[in-house]
Amino acid sequence: MVLADRYGRVATDLRVSLTDRCNLRCSYCMPAEGLPWLPSPEILTDDEVVRLIGVAVRLLGVREVRFTGGEPLLRRGLVDIVRRTSQLRPRPEISLTTNGIGLSRLAEPLRDAGLDRVNVSLDTLRPEVFHQLTRRDRLRDVIDGLAAAERVGLAPIKVNAVLVRGVNDAEAPDLLAWCLERGYVLRFIEQMPLDAQHRWDRATMVTADEILARLSERFDLRPDDRYVRGSAPAEQFVVNGGPATVGIIASVTRPFCGDCDRVRLTADGQVRNCLFAREESDLRTPLRAGASDEQLAALWRRAVATKQAGHGIDDPTFLQPSRPMSAIGG
Ligand code: GTP
Ligand code: 5AD
Ligand code: SF4
Repeated sequence: MVLADRYGRVATDLRVSLTDRCNLRCSYCMPAEGLPWLPSPEILTDDEVVRLIGVAVRLLGVREVRFTGGEPLLRRGLVDIVRRTSQLRPRPEISLTTNGIGLSRLAEPLRDAGLDRVNVSLDTLRPEVFHQLTRRDRLRDVIDGLAAAERVGLAPIKVNAVLVRGVNDAEAPDLLAWCLERGYVLRFIEQMPLDAQHRWDRATMVTADEILARLSERFDLRPDDRYVRGSAPAEQFVVNGGPATVGIIASVTRPFCGDCDRVRLTADGQVRNCLFAREESDLRTPLRAGASDEQLAALWRRAVATKQAGHGIDDPTFLQPSRPMSAIGG
């Protein structure tokens, strides 16, 4: 049995948020003072997380597991959770989306535990701009984290960058040059209406077209004909004749919902069938009440069956989901 919805999409990519906490305060995501964090008793234990991933992999056809947060490196049991996930059969591909802080220490144990690759968020190379965007002085840690990931072979390393108008948008070509030098695959992400403070504004969002225009001032970009996009969120462009590429994740101006193959599990055990879902399905309560794997799988299938066609950001009735990005994991 698979996780299918009524539009014929099948979810094979599970994104698991392990905590809603973070050690940065990116202005497009969280307020300076942080957020009311989930109470610990509501957060799935390591055993519970692994049990649910096991249900998804063994009974529901999930083939890729990505750990997210908040910041997943803050989860104490992460290495163990990765190890136990890698022991599942069929073994899923295992990846991590992180801000990179702490990766210099954890890259090696994570690789040894079975982590296949990492995506690291990095919006700027300038310490003062980093502080302005994240309200913390941790640029060095992120760069060291990337270097450690590279050293231990967590390839390909992808770098995710969100551009904020007037803050780091002019830096896009520098960021690309820096990533090209190191062999990191850079992707620019259009900002989405998922910030906790609901300040997102389409009028000020930096669009894919603008990003491409800026990059084209310094680089020759061509759509990558060899790249089979499938359900990947990024469009890919060949830089200066190749082989290097750059990606654009244009969730807002060029949505890719029709090909979506993702399903999400929050740190407190709720299935979200879409980033922008208005409803969640609780697996934690039945799990703790003694439900069997088959019963949990049935609930999970029902949760995905009702997935909406798309995010609906352009609908006049669009409402931001109540859970912010930091509690969904992107
Ligand atoms: P790979 O391409 O497999 O490496 O992963 P990914 O790009 O799916 O994962 P990552 O966590 O690096 O996500 C990068 C950006 O894409 C984040 O801003 C995500 O929120 C966004 N993204 C990922 N999945 C979806 C999705 O299903 N819908 C939308 N709209 N955005 C997504
Ligand atoms: N819109 C788009 N991307 C966002 N991210 C965080 N908040 C937003 C937002 N509102 C990015 C992070 C990270 C990825 C998981 O999501 O920068 O790269
Ligand atoms: Fe999938 Fe929802 Fe993302 Fe669209 S917005 S790609 S449907 S998760």
